[in-house]
Amino acid sequence: MTGTKLDAMRTTTLGAEGPGVGVIGLGCMGMTFSYDMGTPRDDATSIAVIHQALGLGMTLIDTADVYGPFTNEELVGRALAGRHRDRAVLATKVGLVSDSPQTADPGDSSPGAGRCGRPEYIRQSIDGSLRRLRTGHVDLYQLHRVDPQVPLEETWGAMAEAVAAGKARHIGLSEATVEEIKRAHAVHPVTSVQSELSLWTREALADVLPYCQKQGIAFLPFSPLGRGFLTGRFSSFDDLPQKDFRRGLPRFQQAALRVNLAIAGRVREIAGQVGATAAQVALAWVLAQGRCVIPVPGTKTPRNLLENAGAADVELSAADLTELDALPAPEGARY
Ligand SMILES: NC(=O)c1ccc[n+]([C@@H]2O[C@H](COP(=O)([O-])OP(=O)(O)OC[C@H]3O[C@@H](n4cnc5c(N)ncnc54)[C@H](OP(=O)(O)O)[C@@H]3O)[C@@H](O)[C@H]2O)c1
Repeated sequence: MTGTKLDAMRTTTLGAEGPGVGVIGLGCMGMTFSYDMGTPRDDATSIAVIHQALGLGMTLIDTADVYGPFTNEELVGRALAGRHRDRAVLATKVGLVSDSPQTADPGDSSPGAGRCGRPEYIRQSIDGSLRRLRTGHVDLYQLHRVDPQVPLEETWGAMAEAVAAGKARHIGLSEATVEEIKRAHAVHPVTSVQSELSLWTREALADVLPYCQKQGIAFLPFSPLGRGFLTGRFSSFDDLPQKDFRRGLPRFQQAALRVNLAIAGRVREIAGQVGATAAQVALAWVLAQGRCVIPVPGTKTPRNLLENAGAADVELSAADLTELDALPAPEGARY
């Protein structure tokens, strides 16, 4: 496996005007939400992983108010309290609503359901996030989903107010279309767009990522490891922990999984050829999609974090990239 040197991660900027960050960040969602829900939480290890990420130069730390809800921001707030805060580029999200603890990734909600982009909701939410995160400002405040019931200009205007008030340094969108990015940008600069991108989810390559690249907007791929599948750790439905939300996803159903194993198998073979792990190759492919790309792989495991950090040093040849580009589309929808 390709190793990584402490503090040696390559850096980039969060969009044209944003702060410097390591080219790979850390997604914290799985530390309290969505995955492995049947297993007891180990907050001390999760906090150690966040500190480890900062030490490795993975400075973009990504959370959201709806993860838990609220438990994820609370955990990240505990981890960053005190001297660690200034080392992080702290990103959270608003705009998906849950009034009860849940295990599902909210991205699977049907259009309209669970979304709230009302300006007064955005205005009150930032204060709760800052309290839980134990900080006076977040570096990036992201609209988790555009609410079709509210004109985006109104939602985005309230996000911009958070910047004017010094509560957020920059604002970003998640799973937005090019049209939505343009509409928001006309009100206040869009610093980043966070959408799913991985070897088995490539829709963003058609237009959103090229648009971001051209406009100097950072593109933050979420689930860049295919929710863990591309690392090769799941070979059967029964490998998924009880109460894990992936048990409800089409691509992880046994019949689809059997087909999709060919994708993970090929990634593993290419990893063998380049002297890296499958997770590292999956991340290196995402990084190769553009200079604006800053993936936020999720882990709560020190060993996996170290492995993911090492992906920044993996060089894929043109031939490797061609082979990875040619992988078949997966069986099953993403939600
Ligand atoms: N904007 C949105 O709508 C949205 C939606 C989903 C996610 N996100 C963000 O994106 C982040 C990442 O996405 P994700 O967590 O869904 O998926 P992911 O990063 O593709 O995969 C995470 C899964 O892979 C496992 N894993 C990580 N590194 C590994 C390695 N080197 N070897 C083997 N397994 C490994 C993790 O388990 P361990 O914990 O055991 O390592 C976890 O089960 C989230 O944390 C969240 O911040 C945003």
